[in-house]
Amino acid sequence: MKIRALANTGIELSCVGLGEMPLSLSTRPDEAQAISVVHAAVDAGMTWIDTADVYCADHRDIGHGERLVTTALKAMGDSGKDIVVATKGGLERPGGNWTVNGHPDHLHSACAASLRSLETDCITWYQLHATDPKVHFTESVGALARLQEEGKIQHVGLSNVGVAEIQAAREIVNVVSVQNRCNPFDRDSFNSGVVAFCTRENIAFLPHSPVGGHKGHIRTPEDSVLCAVGARHGISPYQVCIAWLLALSPKMLPIPGASRIESARSSAAAAATSLTQRDMEDLALAFPTV
Ligand SMILES: NC(=O)c1ccc[n+]([C@@H]2O[C@H](COP(=O)([O-])OP(=O)(O)OC[C@H]3O[C@@H](n4cnc5c(N)ncnc54)[C@H](OP(=O)(O)O)[C@@H]3O)[C@@H](O)[C@H]2O)c1
Repeated sequence: MKIRALANTGIELSCVGLGEMPLSLSTRPDEAQAISVVHAAVDAGMTWIDTADVYCADHRDIGHGERLVTTALKAMGDSGKDIVVATKGGLERPGGNWTVNGHPDHLHSACAASLRSLETDCITWYQLHATDPKVHFTESVGALARLQEEGKIQHVGLSNVGVAEIQAAREIVNVVSVQNRCNPFDRDSFNSGVVAFCTRENIAFLPHSPVGGHKGHIRTPEDSVLCAVGARHGISPYQVCIAWLLALSPKMLPIPGASRIESARSSAAAAATSLTQRDMEDLALAFPTV
């Protein structure tokens, strides 16, 4: 698979990574299938996985995704050691709900738990999951800076942020990535200038929910333009979403989720598609990004 850089870190990644979330929510497959999905993604050329402490069923199960990835990669022996794992802190799952907690104390304890779940002394890539309106943003980012100084995390990313927050964070830490919801139906990160900013500033942009999202992806196979473009290349409308994102910025690193092996393989294969000017024009008319 084609390779793209993770900002200025020297780390090179497959241009499509695996989004781990569907393997850990309450709708998750059994563990054997989940591990097969991770293995299929790696076998298909994905060299990195996006997870989070809160990819789990509820608060009793925090770290499910991180433990699953650790187990799956250990089972691969030496080849599993080269896979980069990106995780996140800053949310909680009380009773299965999603709540935000960007307090420095929470981020420190969440990171300690992630270190245990990932069975490592230093997390390669740690992302602030979301901004917390109850905590000054620079305090949350400051907590990540301290974790970095303490050697507990190596590279820092942000998630669910705008340009002003990225700029504020960069006053405190080197931001290597931004992860926002982004797909043909959710284009705020284009319209708000986040993608353009990341592209210009050499920050990796990770479109999450890239084929429409956990629930929203049902729109994808029903969309006539995605289907028509896919038909011209003999690929699925899901694969068109991924190829479209990759074509819109050299800093794009989509993270399609999968709970089925077929989804992971299909998403990896999408990276090989080069959309034509006509494809991009048709997609721009249907899904304007400016
Ligand atoms: N930072 C955040 O706040 C945030 C929020 C949401 C998600 N994320 C991240 O983004 C990742 C992706 O988001 P997501 O999983 O919610 O949505 P998604 O990537 O849009 O995928 C949704 C579903 O579409 C199906 N799918 C994906 N690729 C496919 C393909 N090539 N062909 C056919 N079906 C395909 C999969 O179904 P099956 O399950 O049936 O395989 C998948 O579960 C997550 O795993 C997570 O890592 C981050």
